[in-house]
Amino acid sequence: MRRILVTGAGGQIGSELVPALRAQYGGDSVVSSDIRVPSGGTMADGRFEHVDCTHIREIEHAVRRHGIGTIYHLGALLSAVAEERPRVAWDVNMGGLYRVLEVARQHDCAVFFPSSIGAFGPTTPPTQTPQVTIQRPTTIYGITKVSGELLCDYYHHRFGLDTRGLRLPGLVSYTAPPGGGTTDYAVDIFHHAIRYRHYSCFLRADTRLDMMYMPDATRAIIELMEADAARLADRNAFNVTAMSVTPAEFAAEIRRHLSDFEIEYDVDPVRQAIADSWPEQIDDHAAREQWGWKPRYDLAAMTRDMLARLGERVHGAR
Ligand SMILES: NC(=O)c1ccc[n+]([C@@H]2O[C@H](COP(=O)([O-])OP(=O)(O)OC[C@H]3O[C@@H](n4cnc5c(N)ncnc54)[C@H](O)[C@@H]3O)[C@@H](O)[C@H]2O)c1
Repeated sequence: MRRILVTGAGGQIGSELVPALRAQYGGDSVVSSDIRVPSGGTMADGRFEHVDCTHIREIEHAVRRHGIGTIYHLGALLSAVAEERPRVAWDVNMGGLYRVLEVARQHDCAVFFPSSIGAFGPTTPPTQTPQVTIQRPTTIYGITKVSGELLCDYYHHRFGLDTRGLRLPGLVSYTAPPGGGTTDYAVDIFHHAIRYRHYSCFLRADTRLDMMYMPDATRAIIELMEADAARLADRNAFNVTAMSVTPAEFAAEIRRHLSDFEIEYDVDPVRQAIADSWPEQIDDHAAREQWGWKPRYDLAAMTRDMLARLGERVHGAR
């Protein structure tokens, strides 16, 4: 079996996707890579290559050296960071994907590309957002995501490349910190609840967005890549979600476990505007029908697990 390369492996998703891939396919089969050199953690555990995805030679070197057959391309700038540095976001998100696809074309690799609910915009239907719908995002992040979906479609139709992708919602996890997205509050709230019993949220109390717990997300990614290609009509941008939640609902669920937890709201206008341009609840029937997608964690199950895992870490470190 040819090996797997994960770009941007040091981030929030890669920190959990790499161990999940190693558990599934064997430790030696997965090469992690990032522009940052690992100082520890899962990236340092197995094969690692320094790969800046804006440099085609570095991608090519890793693919040749390790006999790569599949690339999970996670290297990118997230929504809030991209708004601060739009030119760099274009170079990394579009330039990186284009180079990964070119190397994949030359070496016949399959490619996974993570799109986002950020690929939608204010004119998209905000509830039951269909699989195929209006996509006119107003952020540079969203523009790179729609363009990325289309570019992956193009490489499939034009060159027969096996490209597949998901429109991921906000992801909640405890292993690595989030990378500067609009849904980061949904991770921060748990850390603050455990440590301080208090959180100041940068989004309004009633801001409803799709969310998912990381174990569901890594499973979705692997299941999509394992799915029967003949059934994938929407191969590059499947809507997937597990729950549609507001900050006030997160706080209420946390309070069921930590009754003295308090939340206040100090709205960041930049991130609020981004969140307001995204749907509240997307329809993921295409994923359910075409490759059997089904989430395992709802808000209650995720909150229970997050508080237990983070609690162990915080109290274990004392
Ligand atoms: N985390 C989420 O909630 C979420 C939701 C939807 C989609 N996504 C998408 O999933 C992918 C990974 O997200 P994440 O949350 O792990 O992001 P992250 O910011 O936590 O990690 C991104 C990683 O990319 C690396 N990177 C940056 N520039 C690079 C370059 N030039 N070359 C190689 N690596 C580079 C960073 O060092 C970092 O380790 C991104 O495409 C993101 O848009 C994430």
